Amino acid sequence: MEKININGIELAYMRHGKGTPLVLLHGFPLDHHIWDEIVSLLKDTFDLIIPDVRGFGESTTVNIPYTVDDLASDIAGLLDQLNIEKAAIAGHSMGGYIALAFARLYPERVHGLGLVATQALADSQERKEGRYRSADDVAKNGISGIVDAMANKFTSVERLQEFARKSMEVQQPAAYIGGLKAMAERQDSAALLTSMEYPVVIIHGNADALIPVERAHEMKNSITHARLVEVKDAGHIPMLEAVQETANGLKHLA
Ligand code: MLT
Repeated sequence: MEKININGIELAYMRHGKGTPLVLLHGFPLDHHIWDEIVSLLKDTFDLIIPDVRGFGESTTVNIPYTVDDLASDIAGLLDQLNIEKAAIAGHSMGGYIALAFARLYPERVHGLGLVATQALADSQERKEGRYRSADDVAKNGISGIVDAMANKFTSVERLQEFARKSMEVQQPAAYIGGLKAMAERQDSAALLTSMEYPVVIIHGNADALIPVERAHEMKNSITHARLVEVKDAGHIPMLEAVQETANGLKHLA
């Protein structure tokens, strides 16, 4: 992977293809490999920039708390260093939270937005407290508890459950802790949706066990130019469960 220094960390990224710049942001607690299957379907349309979010994969982290806005700032810094002023930004789940923060902080840099298995709402108080409990548990006991709790919720496809588990197992405890706390404190983006002037594609499995498809419908109803791709029988990782349908959806951001 290529690496840049930004905001006190080393951010790793892959780059493939040519066309409209499209940043693909992975979810929690995964890394850029979640997009591997889709690259060949998108690389003739897009200049694909696929980072490991701070702390995950080959990107390093800092041992001080950070916010989802900081993660969005990492991506702005990456685009700066690649001399890209404007890009389409697509995020999966936590990556969607980062994409929404990017859209709030840098609206003039957004060519289009892809919201994959994600939501605009902030955490409820209960969810927030649960995330802090999980972060404490990771600090004390390591990542196995959260891996066991999450791995089978990504999808009902066994082969892909195994892929998700392996991806989760290689991530550092610090990335879990930092990511959980950042997600817990993220801003609500519901009001932002009504001001979006660029194309938005929402892609969501109707069998998503982590973020219900209703969240996607709510976003679609608030955004003027949104297109919703509801993927039948897919769970939380449509880019692996329905690669072609997800790629076709993202191509609307070209
Ligand atoms: C993700 O897949 O990124 C997370 O499940 C999102 C979340 O916990 O809100």
